[in-house]
Amino acid sequence: MEIAERLENLPSEAKFPDNLKEKISYDTDRKLLIFEGVMSEDEKNELLGISQDDLYRKSIEALFRRSQITKKREKKAKLSLRGSRDILEREKEGTAPTAPKENIQLKGLNPPEREEPPKERLRFSIIGQKIQEQSKQINTGQKGEAEEKATPQTQVTKELKDEWKEAQTFYHEFVVLAQEVFDKIKEGQHFEIEKVRNAIEKLIDDLTLGNESIVRLAAISDESYSQFASNAVNVTVISIKIGVSLHYNKSSLMELGMISFLRDIGLVLLSHIIEQPRRLKTSEYEEVKKHPLYTERFLEGLGIRNEVFKQVVLQHHEREDGSGYPDKLKGEAIHEYAKIIAVAEAYESLTHNRPVRAGLPPHTAMREILEEGVAFFGHRITKAFIREFGVYPVGSAVELNTGEKARVIAVHKDFPLRPVVQLMADAEGKPMSKILNLLEKPQLFIKRPVEEGKR
Ligand SMILES: [Fe+2]
Repeated sequence: MEIAERLENLPSEAKFPDNLKEKISYDTDRKLLIFEGVMSEDEKNELLGISQDDLYRKSIEALFRRSQITKKREKKAKLSLRGSRDILEREKEGTAPTAPKENIQLKGLNPPEREEPPKERLRFSIIGQKIQEQSKQINTGQKGEAEEKATPQTQVTKELKDEWKEAQTFYHEFVVLAQEVFDKIKEGQHFEIEKVRNAIEKLIDDLTLGNESIVRLAAISDESYSQFASNAVNVTVISIKIGVSLHYNKSSLMELGMISFLRDIGLVLLSHIIEQPRRLKTSEYEEVKKHPLYTERFLEGLGIRNEVFKQVVLQHHEREDGSGYPDKLKGEAIHEYAKIIAVAEAYESLTHNRPVRAGLPPHTAMREILEEGVAFFGHRITKAFIREFGVYPVGSAVELNTGEKARVIAVHKDFPLRPVVQLMADAEGKPMSKILNLLEKPQLFIKRPVEEGKR
């Protein structure tokens, strides 16, 4: 088939070769080219054959690389290429050898370098996308697997449940690993740092692909875990999510994740103080404030001499306005990773039970962060945090205008007031479990948050 023929009838799917049609769809409204599953070498070459445009070529190759990396997790490797229509249309017209850079946006790929963030992004969680795409299939009468086997709702619910189960298993294993690591550190033994790296790498993959389930778990107080171990995992999850929002590349995310995980190991020396079920005395608090220094010493002992590690560990309690400790640093003197970890730590602490107080619901914790965010963590980090966690962060309990109670399970970055929710009870309080994408239900809206904290 000639390229010109393939480009006919844009933006319909007719532009794609027959063998790729089932794996490729084009979302006209969102200008997204979506490739389902794992891309083979042949499919890559075929796609490259459609266009000679350099940016298009790079994007397809990146999609290909990424889809190979995530081969084992095929069902989650849903990657999107934004802006393809512009490129193809320009090619068709022969008016533009290259497409505008801001129109290229890959979902699920290593984010671009920090210095060159895309001007505009429209990111959806995997769950949100599935709901939209499957609903679209039914609406347009396309025969898809989803239509034959199940309604979009049941299909999505099943996938959501699988994803939730998988996230729970991963979260549990990660916290157990954290406990093992800290026990070994306490006993002066070496731990397998590779295991921690592997867990963080999986976490980065999940969060880059938009799997929000783990974030939901990071905002739940679970008393069956030690506060120390779960806090390390939770702060790592939240920090990486913010790093993804800032378009950090994978090696930066790995660095940020490792530091987040290890930042408080100095506290193992102070467990006799911090585990007391009462407010700390001033002298005890002064002792706790030394934990960044203790952590730095532990890192030395573990052979971790990376300067960024040391700097960030020492600075993760500094505050933008100079009100932090130990050195009362201000603004740009504080490493950006330290600011990310600081806001992650604050949010984690607010949303979790502590010996002297109960954890707050996510939206209330968010409100507290909003009040002091810029003074404490700076503009850029506070903004990224709000963008990622939204007005109704994942895990928030809300009431809809119908009186139904629901929990936020995924956030559309550009439509924070219209997240994906899971209904928990109808207006009469009868339990129910149904997924709703509020972006697709204009008649529904969130009336108010519900002061119901944990599940
Ligand atoms: Fe700390």
